[in-house]
Amino acid sequence: MLSNQPDGGKRSSLHGHWSSRMAFILAVTGSAVGLGNIWKFPYIAGQNGGGAFVLVYLVCVIVIGMPVMMSEILIGRRGRRNPVATMKLLGEEEGSSSKWGWVGGMGVIAGIFILSYYSVIAGWTLAYVVKSATGTFAGASPEAVGAAFDSFVGDWRLIALCHTIFMGLTVFVVARGVERGLEQAVRFMVPALLLLMLVLLGYSISTGYFGQGVAFMFTPDFERLTWGSVLAALGQAFFTLSIGMGAVMAYGAYLPEETSITGASAAVVTADTGIAILAGLAIFPLVFANGLTPADGPGLVFNTLPLAFGQMAGGVFFSTIFFVLLSFAAWTSAIGLMEPAVAWIVERFNKTRAQACVGVGLLIWILGFGSVLSFNVLADTTFLAGTIFDNVDYLTSNIMLPLGGLLITIFAGWVMCRNSTSDELGNSGGLFRSWRMLARFVAPIGILLVLINAVL
Ligand code: TRP
Repeated sequence: MLSNQPDGGKRSSLHGHWSSRMAFILAVTGSAVGLGNIWKFPYIAGQNGGGAFVLVYLVCVIVIGMPVMMSEILIGRRGRRNPVATMKLLGEEEGSSSKWGWVGGMGVIAGIFILSYYSVIAGWTLAYVVKSATGTFAGASPEAVGAAFDSFVGDWRLIALCHTIFMGLTVFVVARGVERGLEQAVRFMVPALLLLMLVLLGYSISTGYFGQGVAFMFTPDFERLTWGSVLAALGQAFFTLSIGMGAVMAYGAYLPEETSITGASAAVVTADTGIAILAGLAIFPLVFANGLTPADGPGLVFNTLPLAFGQMAGGVFFSTIFFVLLSFAAWTSAIGLMEPAVAWIVERFNKTRAQACVGVGLLIWILGFGSVLSFNVLADTTFLAGTIFDNVDYLTSNIMLPLGGLLITIFAGWVMCRNSTSDELGNSGGLFRSWRMLARFVAPIGILLVLINAVL
């Protein structure tokens, strides 16, 4: 029986625990590092004019992302259940209300929505493994690479097939449980991905356009900064760190008592931000060297990186490995996106993990067709933020995740008493006080300010 006492230390999770502190860091890093870093960051930065956007993004990661991540982990570890049950339980325990469970509920829904399009893009990376291996890009011109991409996403049956394969793989791993396989996959994937990014960076430097890429990314032009792009930067910070939807909270529930939450968060944030910046540095010089436009949208990575691989010695090999690694990175993120929904169904409805996974997976697979069709049949059917894909992305990254983060920091900073949080974070004086300042004031006020100015 799970204990109901407000003594976090005695509670344990139904779903097992991480074998070590490193296992937890690897799992959260695996969820954070994904398409958000390599596919999304460059194109969102490109669409929002570069420099100023990148600066705002970095500020959001540090002053909002970091405290939100710490809050999520500490809440998760104290509650030791799925995000819905944890928020409900702690809400009551801290003398507030069980209604806080709704924050977890919003996270479950956000995860399902995000994965519905994430799986579609991950399907593209699977297809690009095959395209790379068969030499499609060897020596190809920018026009040929662009045409290959357009005709690929134009074929809805083909991308639906890729989406189906990717969802199948994801359901398979999640059904097997939290730990098996995941640790090993991430332990190998993150360093390998880093290495290949460095190879790409080397190539980018050799194009002679590296300076132009760096200037685009780091010269802030505040004239071009709108509230809309500030919100995009905030949304990207949430998306790339996997925060605001209870995923990190769900992982925190399996965290051993003695692990430092601050240390683990700092490690994850550093690795994730580093990989995103590297991706930008590799991609923008290629954009300028080949006369492409940074604001190209979701096809940006698929239109630039194959060009670089097509030119370099051993390109077929490197390109294949790169898309394999990117698929892996997407896979370890997809697992995290499903975890809140699966853990909730297992605990709430007494289902087995396998049953929950198949149910949730099926729902996400069906929803995914909205995004599959957004790139072909329904490409011209636009409303509000654009296509169905654009709307799902905007609603989740720019509204649901920041809103979730706002409520999570209010909960950790104002609803939970000082003793509960200092108990989890280890009362390390200045560090604890800084977290509390950020969680109580800076993060909630910052998020509200951006949401109000951008949405109204
Ligand atoms: N962070 C992931 C990426 O950058 C995407 C993501 C968003 C995610 N929210 C998540 C992954 C929650 C796992 C859990 O690709």
